[in-house]
Amino acid sequence: MNITVIGSGYVGLVSGTCFSEMGNNVTCVDIDADKIAKLKKGILPIFEPGLEPMVVKNVQNGNLHFTTDLSSVIGNSEIVFIAVGTPMGNDGSADLQYVLAVAKSIGESIQNRIIVVDKSTVPVGTADKVKATIQKELDKRNESIDFDVVSNPEFLKEGAAINDFMKPDRVVVGAESEFAIEKMKQLYAPFTMSHDRFIAMDIRSAEMTKYAANAMLATKISFMNEIANICEKVGADANQVRIGIGSDARIGYSFIYPGCGYGGSCFPKDVKALKKIAEEHNYQAKLITSVEEVNDAQKLVIANKIVTRFGEDLTGKTFGVWGLAFKPGTDDMREAPSIYVIKELIKRGAKIQAYDPKAVEEAKSCYLKEIENIEYVSSKYQAIEKADALVLLTEWKEFRSPDFNEIKTQLNTPVIFDGRNQYHMFNLAAKGFEYYQIGK
Ligand SMILES: NC(=O)c1ccc[n+]([C@@H]2O[C@H](COP(=O)([O-])OP(=O)(O)OC[C@H]3O[C@@H](n4cnc5c(N)ncnc54)[C@H](O)[C@@H]3O)[C@@H](O)[C@H]2O)c1
Repeated sequence: MNITVIGSGYVGLVSGTCFSEMGNNVTCVDIDADKIAKLKKGILPIFEPGLEPMVVKNVQNGNLHFTTDLSSVIGNSEIVFIAVGTPMGNDGSADLQYVLAVAKSIGESIQNRIIVVDKSTVPVGTADKVKATIQKELDKRNESIDFDVVSNPEFLKEGAAINDFMKPDRVVVGAESEFAIEKMKQLYAPFTMSHDRFIAMDIRSAEMTKYAANAMLATKISFMNEIANICEKVGADANQVRIGIGSDARIGYSFIYPGCGYGGSCFPKDVKALKKIAEEHNYQAKLITSVEEVNDAQKLVIANKIVTRFGEDLTGKTFGVWGLAFKPGTDDMREAPSIYVIKELIKRGAKIQAYDPKAVEEAKSCYLKEIENIEYVSSKYQAIEKADALVLLTEWKEFRSPDFNEIKTQLNTPVIFDGRNQYHMFNLAAKGFEYYQIGK
């Protein structure tokens, strides 16, 4: 099939590349000319395991193309995906300006019957807006061209995006016409060969499914973080409680690790947007509001432990931070807890020495750009040289089994604060460390 994917970020680039891997002829479009020029040379704008070789291979075999010019490819497309960002607007709602700008461009350049697929996470009712925007442009052009607007929310996880896309748990498609559903079924058939995972529904339910899924996962995280905070007060161990409750099949083990809160490009903005969607329909989403409040507080739990140990004024103290990305396997720092912890420590006069296997450039160029008193280093042990404590914030594998003798040699004082949402370090007290965790 001839496919166009508009927006070549985490979702657009992964989706486009995976569609091309299955033999489709795919063009990825972006307004960022620099990004497109680099992609044409095989240089990726993001780190995602396994993506680079797949892009290079499919560019070489002629299945994958990149352009900034939508009008030059739309005439040859059967399906056009919208995969641009829907960031948090000032009032917490999803900012639809990029989605609607793309819809306008589609309306200006559409030449033949196409299916427009909304893959961006968008509030219920957005497909209607996309449809109206395209139609308005067609009316201006005095053209009558059939098109469908379909909702196909994306559920991939950064760090495991290729696997998630190639072997999805489900493919949700909300559509009005049988034609669109059949076409989408054909497109996704190679990804759902082992058993049928294609779920067709109405458009609004598909749009809502994505928010409901993210809100459910965020709720599990905030729930467990709240339990962990109570465990600390009552002298229980949240990790043992996690194992105790996870064994109940109705609860399960996934997403119940206590930690320093959820971050990333999706949960924070989608939880906020869902709250806003409810408000706009005169419903106060009390549970969703609490999920967000618990998470906001949780991002500072590690900083609070540091203050309790070292005092309110951290002038003259240096902290070695391991992990900046919001989770392992990605360089994405959007809403990463590390941003909040580091800012809080620096505000109190501390110095930071930071290391991350992939996210240092993101931190330097964007998320911690304005922050002074932070030094980026290229190895984890360099980060703790003469530091007063090690602060662990991302569960990268290389932090799981470090050389504790080396850590002790480098640190001024053998103190470790562990904000990761998995417990990997065993009996550090016996090794002579002061070890602070979440939920214990
Ligand atoms: N990142 C994830 O893990 C993930 C997972 C599921 C769903 N989503 C959703 O997918 C959507 C995209 O997220 P992302 O993380 O890929 O965003 P991103 O910021 O990584 O990428 C968006 C891209 O769109 C481009 N763009 C913006 N306006 C454009 C226009 N008019 N024409 C062409 N390109 C344009 C930008 O230059 C950028 O490259 C969001 O709605 C997000 O909520 C993201």
